[in-house]
Amino acid sequence: MTLSPDQRYQQVKQTLKRYGQEHLLSFYEDLSTDRQDALLQQLESQDWPQIMELIDSHVLHTPEMTLAQDIQPAPYYPLLPTADLQDKYRKARALGETLITEGKVAAFTVAGGQGTRLGWNGPKGTFPATPIKGKSLFEVFAEFILKTQEKYRATIPWYIMTSPINDGSSREFFEQHKFFGLDPANVTLFPQGTMPSLGLDGKLLLADKDKLAVNPDGHGGSLRALYLSGALEDMARRGVEQISYFQVDNPNVKCVDPLFIGLHALDSAQMSSKMLPKAHAQERVGNFCLLDGRVGVIEYSDMPAQLAEARAADGSLKFNAGSIAIHVIAVDFVRSLNESAGGRFALPFHRARKKVPYLDITSATHIDPEKPNAIKLEAFVFDALPLAKTSIILETDRVEEFAPIKNAEGNDSPATSKQLQSQRAARWLMQQGVDLPFNTAGEVEAIIELSHLTALEPADLSGLDLPQKIEPGSKLVL
Ligand code: UTP
Repeated sequence: MTLSPDQRYQQVKQTLKRYGQEHLLSFYEDLSTDRQDALLQQLESQDWPQIMELIDSHVLHTPEMTLAQDIQPAPYYPLLPTADLQDKYRKARALGETLITEGKVAAFTVAGGQGTRLGWNGPKGTFPATPIKGKSLFEVFAEFILKTQEKYRATIPWYIMTSPINDGSSREFFEQHKFFGLDPANVTLFPQGTMPSLGLDGKLLLADKDKLAVNPDGHGGSLRALYLSGALEDMARRGVEQISYFQVDNPNVKCVDPLFIGLHALDSAQMSSKMLPKAHAQERVGNFCLLDGRVGVIEYSDMPAQLAEARAADGSLKFNAGSIAIHVIAVDFVRSLNESAGGRFALPFHRARKKVPYLDITSATHIDPEKPNAIKLEAFVFDALPLAKTSIILETDRVEEFAPIKNAEGNDSPATSKQLQSQRAARWLMQQGVDLPFNTAGEVEAIIELSHLTALEPADLSGLDLPQKIEPGSKLVL
């Protein structure tokens, strides 16, 4: 039975009254019919019982952080296989290559973040990231996928999670650049979900007279959005079994890595991760641990100092495995996270106090707060790890695979990322016998941009026409 607008209004009003949120209809009478309809739709689509539970647990109270009883370092596969693992690594790489060739692997970029620290006016994927040509992050990944498709004569469908805020501009960018040569039929952009931003008094905020203030629901929301957007169904239709997950801000990431995918599949893992040995005890990365026997991540801010600083017998950090948000995730596992808890998404929400612009109800004016005035709720992708029956971790190398662009300046900035991109290219060229200028700190003193279209890994450079020597201060595009 279709309800009239007035019946819908009455129904919504009753629901809001039950939950003490009637203020959200304060401006209803001022709105045009279309805008009234939009507001009603937004209010009808909220899971009110869940929101009210979350207001109680995350706004009016602060959830207690309970650490596992037993916290141990998580085991991981080393960067270079020990003698007893060499055969397994060979098999794993071959299996990964087979899965890619058979079209069973998809690439998945999470690009829904707001990128506030970088301060770029546009989706982060459009940021000019490479050291000479200034190619965008999206183009860097597209080239990786193009070359992998060519190398394995395969199709790698690419899914990109945007947010309601940057979805349109991300799509426009892909259109403008003709999908960087990829077949648009194999590139799917979809926006992530949002959560209402919650005032510190437990009342939802309005962004405008006809709109709730909302925020993207965190990178963990990607595992929900894959399901709700139909992307997971699309993967199943295509025969995709494994999802290669990476963040939009790391141009050195191996978007699709046969060894990693193969180890994950060989061990029948549901969700796996790459790790970097931490640079120092307090590095601001999550810590892979065994939490009561299950792989999980403790964020740097929650890691007890005595654990962060603990040393193994040889003096190295006992908890040395840092998380860099690179995962392989089984399609079936993502489905189970969405279906097993009676349709409620299995990941928990975390709270963050933030400044959220809002429409003040009494004065009907827009306020840009100077102090945090709201709680944003976000899910974190690594919270899925302890839910996986099996989860493996593979060590990787900082220069090879981690050149994040987070901040406008300083650490993890465009400048450090470009240096790391040049450094990686230099390493690969050196392995081919090219003579390169390094300073005493081992940093290359030239700017080198090596496209993924030229090489996905050092071996791809062999047989190419490479310079014998690179002079200090020179610039080279390959
Ligand atoms: P970050 O934690 O670096 O957040 O996201 P951010 O929003 O990009 O940047 P800041 O903190 O505002 O400066 C890590 C990855 O997770 C994605 C981001 O796009 C990035 O690839 N992400 C984050 C989402 O896709 N959705 C979110 O809601 C949050």
